[in-house]
Amino acid sequence: MQFLKHSFPLLRTPALLIPVLFIMISCQPQTQRLATSTLNINQRVDSVLALMNLEEKIGQLTLYTTDWESTGPTIRAGYVDDIRSGRCGALFNSHTVDFTTQLQKVAVEETRLKIPLLFGYDVIHGYKTIFPIPLGESSSWDLTIMEKTAAIAAAEAAASGLHWTFAPMVDIARDPRWGRVMEGAGEDTWLGSRIAEARVKGFQGKGIGNTDAVLSCIKHYAAYGAPVAGRDYNTVDMSERAFREYYLPPYAAGIAAGAATVMTSFNDLDGVPATGSKWLMTDILRGELNFQGFVVTDYTAINEMTNHRVVADDKAAGELALQAGVDMDMQGAVFQRFLAQSLKEGKVSLQMIDQAVKRILRMKFELGLFDDPYKFSNAAREKATVFSAANRAVAREAVRGSIVLLKNKGNVLPLSKTQGKIALIGPLADSKADMLGAWSGSGDAKDCITLFEGMKNVIGASRVSYSQGCKVNGEDRSGFDAAIKLASGSDVVVLAIGEEAVMSGEAAARADISIPGVQEELLQKLLATGKPVVVVLMNGRPLAIPGVDSTANAIIEAWYGGTEAGNGIADVLFGDYNPSGKLTMSFPYSTGQIPVYYNEKSTGRPFNPESKWTSKYIDNPNAPLYPFGYGLSYTQFSISDPRVSKTSFSNRDTISVTVKLTNTGKRAGAEVVQLYIQDKVSEVTRPVKELKGFEKVMLEPGESKDIVLKLDKNHFSFFKRDMSYGTEPGEFLIMVGPNSRDLKTTTVKLID
Ligand code: NOJ
Repeated sequence: MQFLKHSFPLLRTPALLIPVLFIMISCQPQTQRLATSTLNINQRVDSVLALMNLEEKIGQLTLYTTDWESTGPTIRAGYVDDIRSGRCGALFNSHTVDFTTQLQKVAVEETRLKIPLLFGYDVIHGYKTIFPIPLGESSSWDLTIMEKTAAIAAAEAAASGLHWTFAPMVDIARDPRWGRVMEGAGEDTWLGSRIAEARVKGFQGKGIGNTDAVLSCIKHYAAYGAPVAGRDYNTVDMSERAFREYYLPPYAAGIAAGAATVMTSFNDLDGVPATGSKWLMTDILRGELNFQGFVVTDYTAINEMTNHRVVADDKAAGELALQAGVDMDMQGAVFQRFLAQSLKEGKVSLQMIDQAVKRILRMKFELGLFDDPYKFSNAAREKATVFSAANRAVAREAVRGSIVLLKNKGNVLPLSKTQGKIALIGPLADSKADMLGAWSGSGDAKDCITLFEGMKNVIGASRVSYSQGCKVNGEDRSGFDAAIKLASGSDVVVLAIGEEAVMSGEAAARADISIPGVQEELLQKLLATGKPVVVVLMNGRPLAIPGVDSTANAIIEAWYGGTEAGNGIADVLFGDYNPSGKLTMSFPYSTGQIPVYYNEKSTGRPFNPESKWTSKYIDNPNAPLYPFGYGLSYTQFSISDPRVSKTSFSNRDTISVTVKLTNTGKRAGAEVVQLYIQDKVSEVTRPVKELKGFEKVMLEPGESKDIVLKLDKNHFSFFKRDMSYGTEPGEFLIMVGPNSRDLKTTTVKLID
């Protein structure tokens, strides 16, 4: 090992070095490993790089899916041969200790250089224990639980042989037609940034290389959440100002929190496909955000640049991607097929290839795979960690926290735990598969608790009866009569309706976001029985439900809760948990209102219902049905007028905004106190309000607490006309309340 430490020039002689590398990466006596660790990571990376031929280097830049399962068109088969020949350095959709060990063995025992493989997977809201979909979880406004569920997902994944998750998705989305809103944190930049940090911290835990953590991947960089008309993969076009103000910060926050990798997006942005954009992948990502990890494409995004028609063929697409700053080609096999030729032609340089290889090797070193390629392959750990009772208990907690109470007329909720007959109706009331939601990792539908099961778990089987009524989609009304009969003989109806899980997620845009099929018609028939109807919505996006809102007695938004869905919803229905969720995306009044989001601009003709010539619809309200930040509780809260520590302040000050929060009702409960600001006059148009702080607080009945939220110059900064970032002196409104609509206001002045 002295040789490795002191003789770097000699490392260029591959014949001499193969044994050395072998020593580094195999199970050698501890003393030798200690010796290697005296080299710093850069030296170790360089020492490996020096051994590699071009094909092996390009292999490290190549990620293939196994045939375990695929999330898009599979271009390459025969991945085991690719591993064996050193043409593939990373795999996805391969997990479990058993399977990953088999594959790792091929890499470590059968390839020339024995470089270990990296295993990735879409662990989005859980690996085997499935948590609520991320949009649902974001509605908890509980950063601690989001970090915790990410940590559990990571621990389960890492115990199953995985090193890397393709999460979190931090794309800001204002258009609920886009099916992937289910995977994000909603419409707000500030909240989305905090959630990005929490999830990165959760996934990466105490640090890369710990066996209960995985590499995280900030995706989809950039602005994938803003496709025209909400249609997945569609064009994205926005001003640089809008991009930097509203879309870039969550990526930046995730990177600042230490995200190891970044995934490119499929879309173009201002005419340039993101995967081929040097501005995005190098100037901003590396230059401005100081990103140190590696960049992977989203699936065949390199190849797709030919469909974007910015290049004529795959070879040119690969050159564009590498030149832009992409390091790893997911599934497209473009680097593998063409990069050597591109190098020969001088279209790319060896230095560019080496740079990308080094970034990837570095991550393998940081994970500790060179010291022990089977570090994440421990069958006993897998058995103890995956789907443990403790993990399921956290999942139940996460479900309860994600639920949003949208309406509760006459306090029909919570339901009595001891009295009355309950008719449980609806296509989603006893569907296990739908509880998983999209992107459910290795989650198993049979493990999911349905609402029917959850209710029986709380009150026993005798008081609750179930009738499906109808399907989610289609015109079949043949189940109506049985459902109406059941409702008529019961004291209260719980109706579980919404979307099938496959109706949101990737490639699942909807042009009409009302409740599909005859479900709403069934609701009206049930209401006609005169029984109170509690609607439990399960869906992966905001829905347009003015008809449900105006007629149902109570509505709870339950999203897709994952493994423990039914138990968590039952906890809320029967009052074992007082709902505290708040929407992180506005629920539009109609599809035609989209995009509707709380932080809109004033316009030159602000909405005035009395005047025709203002910015409004003639057939719809301007306001959404339920605004951002909205959600009710079984108790009531009052929030006092905000008080500020200073009414005039400078860029060097931190000001405190204090409100008194009181639980004025009869139950313990949690309120999310939200703080918004408005820049009253600025040199560019600014939103009517922007979230800049919040705190979720639990209070006993009658209890009060002073909530103090802090603001400094960072909260008041924006991109000015010349695109410099900073503050401008002047007055700001400070608004505090329980949602983005019902706010109490004061004014502060920034003096310099
Ligand atoms: C395509 C999706 O856009 C991305 O989010 C995912 O990580 C990859 N497929 C891999 O499954």
